[in-house]
Amino acid sequence: MHQINNLTQINLSKGLAPTEEPARQYHYIKAARAYIQELSAQKGAPLTFHVSTFGCQMNARDSEKLTGILEEIGYQKTDTEEADFVLYNTCTVRENANNKVYGRLGYLNGFQKKNPFMMIGLCGCMMQEPAVVEKIKQSYRFVNLIFGTHNIYKFAELLCTALEATFGSNAKKMGRSMIIDIWQDTDKIVEELPVERKYAFKSGVNIMFGCDNFCSYCIVPYVRGRERSRKPEDILQEVRTLAADGVVEVMLLGQNVNSYGKNLKEPYTFARLLQEVANIDGIERVRFMTSHPKDLSDELIAVMAKSEKICRHLHLPLQSGSTRLLKVMNRKYTKEQYLSLVEKVRAAIPDIAITTDIIVGFPGETEEDFNETMNVVCKVGFDSAFTFLYSKRTGTPAASMEGQIPEETAKARFDRLLRKVQEIASKKAMQYEGTVQKVLVEHINEMDEKLVTGRMGNNSIVHFPGTADMIGKILDVYLKECKGFYYIGEAR
Ligand code: SAH
Ligand code: SF4
Ligand code: F3S
Repeated sequence: MHQINNLTQINLSKGLAPTEEPARQYHYIKAARAYIQELSAQKGAPLTFHVSTFGCQMNARDSEKLTGILEEIGYQKTDTEEADFVLYNTCTVRENANNKVYGRLGYLNGFQKKNPFMMIGLCGCMMQEPAVVEKIKQSYRFVNLIFGTHNIYKFAELLCTALEATFGSNAKKMGRSMIIDIWQDTDKIVEELPVERKYAFKSGVNIMFGCDNFCSYCIVPYVRGRERSRKPEDILQEVRTLAADGVVEVMLLGQNVNSYGKNLKEPYTFARLLQEVANIDGIERVRFMTSHPKDLSDELIAVMAKSEKICRHLHLPLQSGSTRLLKVMNRKYTKEQYLSLVEKVRAAIPDIAITTDIIVGFPGETEEDFNETMNVVCKVGFDSAFTFLYSKRTGTPAASMEGQIPEETAKARFDRLLRKVQEIASKKAMQYEGTVQKVLVEHINEMDEKLVTGRMGNNSIVHFPGTADMIGKILDVYLKECKGFYYIGEAR
């Protein structure tokens, strides 16, 4: 086993760091690069990293930012968790997301025992919960670095501190210590830090952070903080740069994109932003996630209807079909309002795919409430739906509500709903069989290298015979056969 010598470079960063951002982080990137070089020399091999992402598109995008910084620092990306730095970007939206992380930390400790160069980091939504951090401090003492969702822009600085605490001159004397930096909230948005581009041809773009809706079951507003929008000029500049770099598809990201711009000095609407993004040369497809039904404007429907570039896909979380429960959930729309919204959208954009999220077993849900949900599912005919068993999140109003539903009841309803959702979705998918559709080719098929895999504008997946040079191109594809949740096609 290697004996690691104290790092000398580490002290160089002290006192020299600029106070303004992002300059301060570039200073720490440079400092960290020097440490990593020194460690690599001692190891006799380049240091590797692995970022594992749990949760939603927001976390996926954050992981690209963290990866961008790690690559800039000189760590080499690897597919395995037997790496010199493993970072878990966690999710806490449901209890099972948390359990997965605890389960896997044990494994990581095994790797760390064999590799003295290995550091373990935890970040993301779960770390914004004080009880989680307490548990890690007590039971997972081998973790080197913990930070939250509000200070990920400070990652380079935090990593430098953790490197110092783990390998620096005081580390041996003091014993390894865990670096923890969690903020309650922030109004800060730092632009222009490095970011990885996972795909050359498509990219997520954050347009806003946080959420102010406080749906009564949901922990996101507590762990992601108050809603704040990026300035439109910063977003448009980022998309122009991406387009110049060969990106053809962007996905605009926010917990509720429909309330984009409301808190800016000069208010700006999401519909206007979407139009401006679609107007950028080189951008062929624009997607967005997620739309809260209460804020979906006529202006947005009109913009979508007019622009060919805006994908015919709307993710419109229903959560429940019962007006009574929707009120307790604090969703601020009724069953009827949801249904008429869907009608309005379909009248303006007939070929739109509508997908949704539904929670089963919310406190107080009766058979009647559940039947209302089934009823909306049948009436709307969703192209696909993510169904979730209600999960109690400490600190949210729903967690202390009376009438928590026994697991067997919730599970039985969940199974009924899932069957219905799948039956409708597979019928809907059949409608495109035998037609020619535009498909953006994303990668070589994992199971069969003679096939490529891509997505239609409505987000359906298509596999067809092809080659690597097709990746990133939008091609006309004949959909020969629908296999339930994907198509088998042929390029035209
Ligand atoms: N901002 C997005 C949702 C983010 S969370 C929106 O409002 O649409 C993604 C989904 O997780 C939610 O739509 C909801 O269906 C589900 N979810 C959130 N909290 C949950 C909980 N406590 N139990 C089960 N599902 C939950
Ligand atoms: Fe959660 Fe509701 Fe905000 Fe979505 S809109 S993130 S469900 S609080
Ligand atoms: Fe999970 Fe955080 Fe997203 S809790 S769903 S990763 S915003």
